[in-house]
Formats: sequence, structure tokens, C-alpha cells
Amino acid sequence: MQRTYIGVICFFVLVAAALSVYATPATRHDVKTGTCRVLNDGPLEWESRPWGEGGKAFKQVCKSCHTRDNIEGATFLWEESKTSRGWNMVFTKMRAKCARDGVWARLSDDQLLMVNDYLYRWASDSMDINDSA
Ligand code: HEC
Repeated sequence: MQRTYIGVICFFVLVAAALSVYATPATRHDVKTGTCRVLNDGPLEWESRPWGEGGKAFKQVCKSCHTRDNIEGATFLWEESKTSRGWNMVFTKMRAKCARDGVWARLSDDQLLMVNDYLYRWASDSMDINDSA
């Protein structure tokens, strides 16, 4: 009886460990700055969380337009609207209308990097074990 109990606990610990390793990408290569952004450790770990700088800037600035039924003519956008790679493209190419119109200038370069980190980390494919690297 006791053995089974310990076995069950071990199983859950293993699953939790596996999930914490694979749930979100650990790093992001930023093409523009040529840097590797470490998202699972240190200050960026915190900043790329929903309540960190990146998550806050996305909600306060980007989501001021990209909500459902907005009057700005912007499509509804949320973290999982794109894959990690898709979000990187958005920030590297800056082809979005709002980026070209200068709307993104409301955020500093550093803040935009953090929004990119945030969206990359929580993108639609971020729970995919095979894609987490
Ligand atoms: C002042 C309103 C406004 C703000 C703020 C804004 N956008 Fe936009 N955005 C638009 C409009 C309008 C379009 C063009 C219509 C469309 O394609 O959604 C657009 C287009 C886009 C697109 C292309 C559409 C798509 O589905 O791929 C992306 C991506 C995007 N914005 C991302 C962002 C991000 C990231 C931020 C924050 C850094 C942001 N936007 C802030 C208004 C805004």
C-alpha cells in the first residue's frame, strides 16, 4: 500500500518536472540584436511572464487596440494568435500596419524586445514538447 503511494507521488513529481522543463521555451534568439535571450532564468524570466514588463506592455499598449470588437480596425490578437516563430517574424520584419505607422514607438526598443520575449514564450506552440527548443 505504502509503496503504491510513493510510486504515485514519484510519478507526479516526474510529470511536474517534465512540464516545467518543456512547457515554455527557455531561450529566444533575437535576430535584430543578435543576442540570445534567456527566458527561464534571471531577470528576463520574470519580465517575460504575464505580469512582467513584456506581458504588461502587451496588455496595456498592443491590447489597447487588438481586442475583440475594437473600433481601431485591428484584428483580435492574443498570445496564441501566432507561433513563437511567427511572433519573432512580426517583430523582426515590422510589417504590421501599426508598426509602420509608428504606433509601436509608444514603447522603447527594450520594451519591444520584452513584448517579443513574452509573446514568444506564451505562443500557440509553446506547450509543444517538440517545439520548445
Ligand atoms: C493604435 C492601435 C494599435 C496598437 C496600439 C497596436 N496595433 Fe497592431 N495593428 C493595428 C491596426 C489598425 C492593424 C491593421 C489591421 C490588422 O491587420 O489587424 C494592426 C496590425 C497588426 C498586426 C498584423 C495583423 C495580424 O493578424 O498579423 C500585428 C501582428 C500587430 N498589429 C501587432 C501589434 C503589436 C505586437 C502591438 C504592440 C506592440 C500592436 N500591434 C499595437 C492597430 C494597433
